[in-house]
Amino acid sequence: MSSLLLTGIGELVTNDPERDGPLGLLAAAAVVVEGERVAWVGPAAEAPAADTAVDAGGRAVLPGFVDSHSHLVFAGDRAAEFAARMAGEAYTAGGIRSTVAATRAASDEELTAHVGRLVAEMQRQGTTTVEIKSGYGLTVHDEARSLAVARQFTDETTFLGAHVVPAGSDPGEYVDLVTGPMLAAAAPYARWVDAFCETGAFDEDQARAVLLAGEAAGLRGRLHANQLGPGPGVRLACELGLVAVDHCTYLTDDDVTALRDAGTVATLLPGVEFSTRQPYPDARRLIDAGVTVALASDCNPGSCFTSSMPFCIALAVREMGMTPQEAVWAATAGGAAALDRDDVGRVTVGARADLTLLDAPTHVHLAYRPGVPLVAGVWSAGRALLGR
Ligand code: NIG
Ligand code: FE
Repeated sequence: MSSLLLTGIGELVTNDPERDGPLGLLAAAAVVVEGERVAWVGPAAEAPAADTAVDAGGRAVLPGFVDSHSHLVFAGDRAAEFAARMAGEAYTAGGIRSTVAATRAASDEELTAHVGRLVAEMQRQGTTTVEIKSGYGLTVHDEARSLAVARQFTDETTFLGAHVVPAGSDPGEYVDLVTGPMLAAAAPYARWVDAFCETGAFDEDQARAVLLAGEAAGLRGRLHANQLGPGPGVRLACELGLVAVDHCTYLTDDDVTALRDAGTVATLLPGVEFSTRQPYPDARRLIDAGVTVALASDCNPGSCFTSSMPFCIALAVREMGMTPQEAVWAATAGGAAALDRDDVGRVTVGARADLTLLDAPTHVHLAYRPGVPLVAGVWSAGRALLGR
């Protein structure tokens, strides 16, 4: 097994709870990687030798971003819908149906190539773990093949047959399809089950039925909720003890209390509010109440077509009351919590060697220098994906 010494790290974000602060920062640090895992973390002056060495030159290193919410399996784009929104139109769930038509018309090869391009785009921006949902197929065949495509890129795949009721379908009959034959075809390729619990998509009872059926089939639940207005979704997620509930833009005090008491991660997706001109979720309120917050891209062709976790961090700091430390934690360890993973989102002995090198002396630059391509190197499971 070959080993790598990454030394000369000006600031190392470990997210090690045994070190100081939310980020467990270490100055003048080094990391030793053996095979796919982190084998040693500590002061550069005490680092053991390794087969090869890379000098970070005083720059910052952090765990690869964990993007716990994306919808990469689709065809076409909705640039015209975005432009209309920026001219005053409102975002509605109905736009999903135009992507469904384009996705059904695409071949497996076209979908695979498109997902591959987007995953590479994410990696160039420091993301080393990505969750990918289905939800633009909405037939038994198209949902199963969407997940089979996603599985080629990640184990964190999510069945989202309950994204919207397809044009011409009866809602009740569609939920029966999702909880029956569609789930059966999708389950072999999925780890998670999700539903869009929102006006214009699925109501509380329908979302509950989908989540319970998914759990009975061996999947774990997560939920889109409270994106476009207040609603029952966040409380449903807490009642069911889901690992994470995503969006959380419109929350009552009771929702916040329920999130804290259930320990359900609130995944905030600020690119959506940027791209839909909606109010941003109040991360400060959640963190102050003791809720675990994750940040994710929600990369999709409708509500938010960014793949950039640095962009989401900058938005969260500028618009949502998060400190740079909190935002970087939420984009790494928070994303890992939202996927119930303890092997990613941290640089500690035994963790997967997913590392992002910034062309910057500190993680603060991710928010301080918005829009600047700061990612200079990426290692995924010990393998260099990007130059440095
Ligand atoms: O997470 N909210 C539901 N689904 C996506 C948007 C999908 C679309 O507009 O195509 C989201 O924002
Ligand atoms: Fe989403």
